[in-house]
Amino acid sequence: MHLYETLADDLSWLICAGVYPPGARLPSVRHISRQRGVSVSTSVRAYHELERRGVIEAAPRSGYFVVGPRRSALPSVPEHGASPVPVAGAHRILQLLAAADDPRTVSFGAATPHPDYMPSAAMAAASRTVWRRARRRCMNQAFPPGAVELRTELARRLAMAGCRLDPDDLLITNGCQEAMAIALKMLCRPGDVVAVEAPTYYGLLEVLEQQQLRALPIPSDPSQGLALDPLEQAFRTREVRACVVTPVASNPLGVTLSDERKQALVALAERHAVPIVEDDTYGELVETGRRPTPLKAWDRAGRVYYCGSATKTICAGLRIGWLAMPGRYRQQAAMAQYLRTISVNTPAQLTLAHYLATGHIDRHMRAAARAYRQCVARLIAELEQHFPAGTKISAPQGGFLVWAELPGTVDTGALLAESLRCGVSFAPGALFAPNGGFENCMRLNAAVAWDQAAQSALQNLGGLVRDRLG
Ligand SMILES: Cc1ncc(COP(=O)(O)O)c(C=O)c1O
Repeated sequence: MHLYETLADDLSWLICAGVYPPGARLPSVRHISRQRGVSVSTSVRAYHELERRGVIEAAPRSGYFVVGPRRSALPSVPEHGASPVPVAGAHRILQLLAAADDPRTVSFGAATPHPDYMPSAAMAAASRTVWRRARRRCMNQAFPPGAVELRTELARRLAMAGCRLDPDDLLITNGCQEAMAIALKMLCRPGDVVAVEAPTYYGLLEVLEQQQLRALPIPSDPSQGLALDPLEQAFRTREVRACVVTPVASNPLGVTLSDERKQALVALAERHAVPIVEDDTYGELVETGRRPTPLKAWDRAGRVYYCGSATKTICAGLRIGWLAMPGRYRQQAAMAQYLRTISVNTPAQLTLAHYLATGHIDRHMRAAARAYRQCVARLIAELEQHFPAGTKISAPQGGFLVWAELPGTVDTGALLAESLRCGVSFAPGALFAPNGGFENCMRLNAAVAWDQAAQSALQNLGGLVRDRLG
């Protein structure tokens, strides 16, 4: 990313955050150059970039002014009242997986950050060190529960987030996806009902489908997250075996539950004796100066099964995740991991442990959260510019995913085929629900390389949407 783009993203964020409200005058080009230690030409380019995005406008001889408030409304809150439904349709994801690997496609579809946002040099160095120092261990399997070095580092890191865990409470898994699958396997039998957010992460629906579980969608509000009243009603009136929730920077809405709501959710689970599977995949990717507290930190009764991952934060290719469950299930969970894939890649476990031990992670996490916040601001500005009026757009409180609800009756599933032919992918809304709905929505990954190709891709995608609206 060029310096002027970074400056434009920073200013764009300040505008979104209301530091410069609609109509406010931005600092002069000279002032901002001095303040940021950049050249005048960099500041001029940044202001031109913001003009191009439609965020500010120049008034002759007066300077630059913020154009208006966020032009798009938030997506609608889904209606409640659904019954539990069997889950089907996992195969629909194959189209997106193929597009994610195709270098000719600009991939807004897969929820994987571009490698430039990840600490790739540090990971390569950690991997070299581990092979040099622990070659014999790398050549062997680290059977469940996984390498003790990694479990110890993770327990230390989770302690800083308020979770008191023994390294032996942790099981290393192949990503968060496997952690959730193991948790649900321990808790449920085929046909059981699992409460999920609506909309929810499609990988979770794949797990439910595989285990023949029924999903009970509970509405998630784009500004507040999972609606607790319908959840409590479901706990009271139905036999709900488990509830899966992403309390921080959820996928696809990017919404984060307040601490009060998190505590209320844990209390609800205790009152009704319903286990919570907590998906904390994006838990560190929030730029608030304080790492959000996981539900697990308030779990006194052993109801929360905590699932984490390094996929979105450190290295997607490692495929490392972890599960922290109530102590009485340790052996059962280890056996479940063994039965699924025997063990998790040893060099990957040791490399991650070594990287965590070096202590660079906090700096990286801060930089990543900041970069993703800028990417999200940028994507929202582009969508507001290129998509039809009436498009509703999420206001993510972390992570790097953006959810857009299109006006009219555009079916984004049908749109995807056309969009892929033009070299642009996105995740169609229907993937995020077990029972239909969200067909006029799409999820986009903002953590892409923001080059000319990405800009043109969004412009083209906006054109396709407009064509469909007629
Ligand atoms: C909310 C959420 N949970 C879990 C996962 C899967 O994580 P992993 O890649 O670690 O299996 C994803 C990946 O997109 C996700 O978005």
